[in-house]
Amino acid sequence: MNPTDPPRQTAVITGATGGIGRELVRQCLLDGMRVVAIGRNTDALGDLSRFSSAPPPSLIPLNLDLLEPNAARSVLDFLDAHDFPADLLINCAGVGLLSRFHESGLSTQTDILRLNTQMPMELTHLLLPRLRSARGAVLNITSLLAAFPAPGLAVLSASKIALLHWSVALRRELKGNVAVTAFSPGITRTPFLPTARMGHLGLDRFFFASNPDLVARRALRAVRRNAAIAYATPLDRLGALLLGFAPHRLVAAAVAIALKPQRPPAGP
Ligand SMILES: NC(=O)c1ccc[n+]([C@@H]2O[C@H](COP(=O)([O-])OP(=O)(O)OC[C@H]3O[C@@H](n4cnc5c(N)ncnc54)[C@H](OP(=O)(O)O)[C@@H]3O)[C@@H](O)[C@H]2O)c1
Repeated sequence: MNPTDPPRQTAVITGATGGIGRELVRQCLLDGMRVVAIGRNTDALGDLSRFSSAPPPSLIPLNLDLLEPNAARSVLDFLDAHDFPADLLINCAGVGLLSRFHESGLSTQTDILRLNTQMPMELTHLLLPRLRSARGAVLNITSLLAAFPAPGLAVLSASKIALLHWSVALRRELKGNVAVTAFSPGITRTPFLPTARMGHLGLDRFFFASNPDLVARRALRAVRRNAAIAYATPLDRLGALLLGFAPHRLVAAAVAIALKPQRPPAGP
């Protein structure tokens, strides 16, 4: 594609400033798409411009806290203001926190659910007319954690299985109009782990951890293949299969041993 040609399609990507989202932005731009990149971190958003070549501008940053009231409506207003279509919506923003449920505040836990599950639903609902007229696609970044209950990450795993089931059901409802793919990464080397207070576990050093460029590449390939559910690696797929079929009570007991939340700091 000639860099001066108008972009062919528009991708709206949340979590664009994170490890996986940044790679999704880079690879969508390489594919010749225009990208509306959503995140809070201003520096990281600005840094994305390095992936965008000559005009016309193909990288459009949108600085937005998705937990603010009416955040999804702000995305729609932004698209309206620029008269942008939406061919691909990628719901990638997500957070987690390694903590026993009762040891962190209620709003911390419900914010995980809002960002990981409710926001993708709100964005998809509001962007659906655009996605329909483009015969477009939705890519929901779920997690291997959707396959099993994870003590210490109880709300995170609940948020991801809700996202997964909603994706697959929505896919059926929108059949023939909008394609919906749920993509479930396993452990990926991004800031997610330290942010979720999981850095001390050293999970990103395990052989089965993936790099974000591979995860993003496989996720976009899954969209092109119109997959219902996809994984980054065969090992992730096997893990989802085994952990999904094993008795959840036993898996939960094993995960509780493996994931040791750090004690919350002692009060004053
Ligand atoms: N890394 C893993 O091991 C792993 C495994 C399975 C699934 N996943 C999933 O993959 C997705 C991407 O994770 P990642 O590994 O790339 O994590 P990451 O590097 O920590 O990125 C998280 C992204 O979410 C955005 N975000 C967080 N809170 C936000 C808010 N209130 N409003 C707007 N944006 C917000 C962050 O934006 P700012 O930085 O600008 O705030 C950042 O772009 C998540 O849904 C995660 O659950 C990750």
